[in-house]
Amino acid sequence: MNKFARIIGTGSYLPPTIITNDDLSKTIDTTDEWITTRTGIKQRRRVTNESTCDLATIAANKALEMAGINANELDLIILATTTPDKIFPATATMLQNAIGASCPAFDLQAVCAGFVFALTTAEQYIKTGAANKVLVVGSETLSRIVDWNDRSTAILFGDGAGAVVLSGSEQTGILHSKLFSDGHYLSSLQVSNNFINETGFIQMAGNEVFKIAVNRLSKLAEETLEEVGMNSEQLDWMVPHQANIRIISSVAKRIKLPMDKVIVTLENHGNTSAASIPLALDVAVRDGRIKRGDKLLMEGIGGGFSWGSVLVEF
Ligand code: UT7
Repeated sequence: MNKFARIIGTGSYLPPTIITNDDLSKTIDTTDEWITTRTGIKQRRRVTNESTCDLATIAANKALEMAGINANELDLIILATTTPDKIFPATATMLQNAIGASCPAFDLQAVCAGFVFALTTAEQYIKTGAANKVLVVGSETLSRIVDWNDRSTAILFGDGAGAVVLSGSEQTGILHSKLFSDGHYLSSLQVSNNFINETGFIQMAGNEVFKIAVNRLSKLAEETLEEVGMNSEQLDWMVPHQANIRIISSVAKRIKLPMDKVIVTLENHGNTSAASIPLALDVAVRDGRIKRGDKLLMEGIGGGFSWGSVLVEF
């Protein structure tokens, strides 16, 4: 039995092709000004030939390097993705092969909440002693399921990957986690196809999703802090799902957390679904903002709806 699951390495990767707001305004009826003020997003990344596994492989290798371990020391790989490369085999098994690991590997689908669901699952393996070193990755090629003629969704989504390596530890690590799903809202945010031989596209009732996201994430943050006996002043950082700056700042305001304690990277890559939290985490770890001992609250919500939080002493 391990006392804690501790993050010992982080990594991320964004594909090099950049689509700016001005690029989008040439093909759809939108403006840089509208996108920036309504979402905070300035640009998103789009794969050319790379797969979800390719992005995941680069992010995972960076996380393994920071952790100082080899892939063959891993006991488990969990890949959170909404955009697997194939219906099967699991993209996680492609990743296992690409990084040279030999452990069990599976995909987990909880859309934009995928990373917090995967982190929580990994924590359970570690705390029971069933695994000691676990790679958790969020990787997405959402550009493959975006309708590039739909201005209400094409401006939001992008491609990318983020990863963490967790290790069993007697020191601190994950302190608390909470997951929820409510399947009453299936059509509010979904991919349009029902059949596996037909390519579908993201459809979203943006306004409804916005309000539910602010309400659920604020309540979740308040409950999480209460359950661990903390107030928001004792929190060093919030590392939220990077969907919309107005959702993030509304949640921060409700829990009385100043925006200089919130990691925001969405201007650079848009909403990358399951990849967005580990991407933001890696940026802030590598630029020195997040330090050992800091208390971080990660939270995300996505289609289903599914949502969840993970509180970590880094
Ligand atoms: O990852 C988790 C899931 N996703 C999210 O968290 C996203 C949640 N939703 C949102 O971020 C926001 O709802 C959006 C950014 C999608 C939309 O922002 P909004 O402030 O809720 O705008 P709206 O949908 O209420 O639309 C306002 C107006 C409409 O025009 P009218 O009816 O007022 O004339 C839209 O047709 O803005 C129009 N509009 C646009 N205008 C220029 C919608 N999209 C665009 C656009 N450019 N791209």
